[in-house]
Amino acid sequence: MVHELKHAVLARQTADDLARQRFVLALKRELTGRIRPGNQLLFEARVRPAMQRRLRSRSGADREEIKRGLLAEPAYQAWAALTRCSQEMMWATVTEPLMRDRERIEAEARRLLGGAQRLGGLDLPAGFEPPAAMREHHVHLQPQGYAHTRDADDVMAGALYEAGGNLYSMGQGMGGDDSKGFAAIRWIKWHRPGFAPRRILDMGCSAGAGSVPYAQEFPDAEVHAIDIGAAMLRYASARAESLGARVFFHQMDCGATGFPDGYFDLVVSHNLFHEVSNETRNATFRETFRLLAPGGLALHQDVAIQNAARTPFEQAERAYDVYYNDEPFWENYADADIVRELVAAGFAPGAAREIQLGKINGPGHWFAAVAEKPAAAPAARS
Ligand SMILES: C[S@@+](CC[C@H](N)C(=O)[O-])C[C@H]1O[C@@H](n2cnc3c(N)ncnc32)[C@H](O)[C@@H]1O
Repeated sequence: MVHELKHAVLARQTADDLARQRFVLALKRELTGRIRPGNQLLFEARVRPAMQRRLRSRSGADREEIKRGLLAEPAYQAWAALTRCSQEMMWATVTEPLMRDRERIEAEARRLLGGAQRLGGLDLPAGFEPPAAMREHHVHLQPQGYAHTRDADDVMAGALYEAGGNLYSMGQGMGGDDSKGFAAIRWIKWHRPGFAPRRILDMGCSAGAGSVPYAQEFPDAEVHAIDIGAAMLRYASARAESLGARVFFHQMDCGATGFPDGYFDLVVSHNLFHEVSNETRNATFRETFRLLAPGGLALHQDVAIQNAARTPFEQAERAYDVYYNDEPFWENYADADIVRELVAAGFAPGAAREIQLGKINGPGHWFAAVAEKPAAAPAARS
């Protein structure tokens, strides 16, 4: 709404659609920016004193006790209920225009994907089963989830992801121009001046908003992007074609991709790991190591919610997303020691580290883990 890259598979919106979206955005900003900080005051004024009375022998309280304390407070319940409502309203406001414009959007996607002038590609292998977690959970309440695919023309999972994602990120205080892909690319070009990757892989690409910048910024590279949903990928591919970007999309699991060993000079992901299980995250790190060519670089960017740097209250308060936003893996990711896991996946100690990526147009930073393979790679450690 406020800012979107214009392309052929965006929904046409009326003034009423935009007015509804602006209302939801304002509500979300109020809930996140002005009301949510009150949870800390609630904890200090009511939850902690009650816990200290109950647990006389201990001065502190752990995350699980704090969660129970917060969940019992009417003020926290009211904030959580309103936040849940605002998320449901957000999806309603973007779903309506998409459903109204669905036939035209699907026809545009068919045209873009069937054209003789195609720049990139789309590979949807018959019989691919999306992981159960992605079929069963509707992460951040996206209607019918990321994996949903109605038929061979469907692009709605991708269309919803892009439309909802734009509003969602702005409701969280990010600027309309924020791009995780450009933030990562800016760091990569600073870290490795003159780096010219031959092949780049973007894992968990969703609608391809993070993949397209790699094709634009590394025009000589072959850019591949993977995800698990056919409708998601069909949309991503049509969107990239409409933007003039050459990206090859594949329906693949990031934990077992099927690309040959050492195929990529650059492997990236954006906001993937807080949405997958511990098993998938660790399989993906092993896959990253296997797929990188000697001298290759991996950059896995995600939300900066690492629990190691947070108080028990901050950890407990963020559990909102697990309970009410269908983010089952949020806490697993926040608890993980990503650098240790990358080393266990094969990277040499010292070759993997955490960095902060400044946002392009918003407050704060993204978390990223980077890992590099030496130019002459030793064999994978068993
Ligand atoms: C938050 S979205 C990623 C956003 C996207 N990278 C971007 O920058 O716009 C997470 C994506 O990971 C995908 N995903 C989840 N599990 C996956 C798996 N095992 N393999 C590949 N993709 C997966 C989901 O379908 C979803 O599209």
